[in-house]
Amino acid sequence: DGGSSDDHKRGIGSAARHEYGEVEGSASAAASRSISRSRSRRRRDPERRMNLIDGVALTVGLQIGSGIFSSPGVVTLNTGSVGSSLVVWLASGMLAWCGAASFAELGSAIPQNGGAQAYLNYSLGGLPSYLFSWTAIVALKPGSGAIIAIIFGEYLARVLYHTTSSSASTPHSQSLDGIPDWSIKLLASLIVILISALNALSAKLGTRMQVATTVVKLIALVAVPILAIVTAARGKMPDESREAFSSFGALFKGSSTAPSAYALALYSGLWAYDGWDQVSYVAGEMRNVSRDLPRVIHSSMTLVVCFFSITVLSYFLVLPPQQVGRTNTVALDFGSAILGTGGGIAFSLLVVFSCFGALNSQIYTSSRLVYAAGREGYLPSMFGSIHKRTATPVAATVFQGVMVLVFILFGSGFASLVSFYGVCSYTWYFLTVVGLLVLRVKEPNLERPYRAWLATPVIFATTALFLLLMPIASAPLEAGAAFLFMLAGLPAYFISTGKAAALCGKRWGSADGKAGQQPGMLHEHEVDD
Ligand code: ARG
Repeated sequence: DGGSSDDHKRGIGSAARHEYGEVEGSASAAASRSISRSRSRRRRDPERRMNLIDGVALTVGLQIGSGIFSSPGVVTLNTGSVGSSLVVWLASGMLAWCGAASFAELGSAIPQNGGAQAYLNYSLGGLPSYLFSWTAIVALKPGSGAIIAIIFGEYLARVLYHTTSSSASTPHSQSLDGIPDWSIKLLASLIVILISALNALSAKLGTRMQVATTVVKLIALVAVPILAIVTAARGKMPDESREAFSSFGALFKGSSTAPSAYALALYSGLWAYDGWDQVSYVAGEMRNVSRDLPRVIHSSMTLVVCFFSITVLSYFLVLPPQQVGRTNTVALDFGSAILGTGGGIAFSLLVVFSCFGALNSQIYTSSRLVYAAGREGYLPSMFGSIHKRTATPVAATVFQGVMVLVFILFGSGFASLVSFYGVCSYTWYFLTVVGLLVLRVKEPNLERPYRAWLATPVIFATTALFLLLMPIASAPLEAGAAFLFMLAGLPAYFISTGKAAALCGKRWGSADGKAGQQPGMLHEHEVDD
């Protein structure tokens, strides 16, 4: 890829961010690059404008989403004790950190936009890179959108149920079970339809929500430990928690011994930390990649690991461990245990708001990814079109919205979707880090401004492999579905790169491993509709 055209692309990326506002930041960078292609000819924006703070805000803003308010239940349920649950939270933080450090090395050596897609393309070739993009479009993006929407639905359903039923509830009984599954799915679907519609109507509308929701998330995470400390100081810690923290043995009492249970717990913890790779998608926009990329990654991970550990500890100080293990909406239980019904509702609404913001980013960025794939010929060209009146990629947005709905309707809830998402995402994280190891051998002299400590990628790859093998026993359905989804990209690869091109006599992108020909890295196209 020629240096100057590469720089040109980066410039376009910046233009796109100014045009649409920064959202999840991520994969869409590549996609939005193409969206304002024709505008960028008129606009001259400073390229490489991202600094350390921008990068940290981007990463932390995405990492803090639904997970820290919902995963603690699944982690506790699977690990069986407070101690091992805290260990899993720390372990998932460290594992995410190892992955992030590996990505920092790749990003500094291959300072392009596109994240895993660019690294895979460089290290392992065009096919893995294509399959990664495919997985992102058909599984990773819609899957994660569905998870966030379901958490939104669960919290909102509990608020609605609570306010519509006037049953007086005891302090610890407000994780109101018995809410029908369909009502959660209905609420989740409605929000997906609403957000997709907003995004199809206007690109600006949604992006305004970002700052507001980030502030809300931070308020929630600062409030949790303060409230927990006040509660504990006033001697209102539940007996079960007091008991669990009374000795080392008690802390680990009841710990599960099944490795596969730990794999499921790890997936849930990792979901909460997920998003650590986001800055690598926009590395090409950073002012000083080799210096700032590792700094962004290490600062964000430090912040998030501290925040999350303190938050989880706070939940255990206020709620009996068994109750944490029973709920998907731990923040609601936490709020109502401390402040009564009003507190539960307030915390629920915080999470509802936070999920709304996260989902908005998710749909915004993934529709740009679909748009870019449509442009490149990886998907039918209608998905690569911009609507004349709204100036948004309407078809791509509808496609993404429908995909998320499919995952909401057919997925069986939070835990199973998280396992599915975990298998899909860790397959690609694993392969990308294997690519790093391959490059260390094949290209020892490649310039690596940041070199991760060799143990980091090795630990990451080994643990990721364990994580990929385990669900075959513990969650065979989810793992099977994940591998099916990924492999379904194979025929698509051959159709879109080979035969179909000849048949249609159309200009199809070739995925032969050239950076300029990946989805999102587009050539001259005019905006049409
Ligand atoms: N960590 C986020 C949460 O807890 C999820 C991030 C989803 N990942 C992504 N690449 N969009 O909700």
